[in-house]
Amino acid sequence: MNDFIEKNIGVMLVLILIAVSFGGAVEIIPLMTQKVVTQPIEGLKPLSPLQLEGRDIYIREGCNVCHSQMIRPLRAEVERYGHYTVAGELVYNHPFLWGSKRTGPDLARVGGLYSDAWHRAHLRDPRSVVPESNMPAFPWLFEKKLNIDDTAAKLKALQTLGVPYTDEQIAKATDGLDDKTEADALIAYLQQLGTLIKDRR
Ligand code: HEC
Repeated sequence: MNDFIEKNIGVMLVLILIAVSFGGAVEIIPLMTQKVVTQPIEGLKPLSPLQLEGRDIYIREGCNVCHSQMIRPLRAEVERYGHYTVAGELVYNHPFLWGSKRTGPDLARVGGLYSDAWHRAHLRDPRSVVPESNMPAFPWLFEKKLNIDDTAAKLKALQTLGVPYTDEQIAKATDGLDDKTEADALIAYLQQLGTLIKDRR
């Protein structure tokens, strides 16, 4: 039998395909039926318009290039960063920002860890609060007013992807955002990261 398979590449290919698809199916199909990976965890709310704009600045400035947002279920990670990340925390994230490159620490649970004043000092000049830091400074975020021309459209786009924004929230998307800077939005975004799960460092 072995001889026959090894000498007939067509048969071997078919058998390899069957073996690989079986392996894939065993991993993928159970996920489709598990609510825990598709349902929001209790208390999960979509980002506020200010936080959502902050998230876009986070992406624009490339923060995700140095910072991951996924705590893995390993002891060293949990001791350093708090409870590991669960899928239900992230169901409204489009696109997700898990990442794997960690020039800086993981930020999945950084919300509430520092004061707003700390974040302001850190973004303006990281060395002023962490002397050994090699994070770049982002002073322009404090000078630029937040551009809110597209805020309502962004909420609407997310709504079509299944994020439960109400029409009323979309209509009022830019209320109170007139005098916000980009730094205000970014810090509002950072301060909610991972705060629903209380098991923190
Ligand atoms: C070139 C890589 C790099 C980039 C880009 C970068 N960081 Fe950092 N970040 C670091 C490093 C390294 C540290 C650790 C030293 C420190 O705290 O400053 C850090 C620390 C932090 C911390 C403190 C985390 C903690 O657990 O103490 C926050 C918050 C943070 N960064 C936010 C940001 C934000 C927001 C941006 C984008 C505007 C950003 N970083 C961009 C490298 C980077």
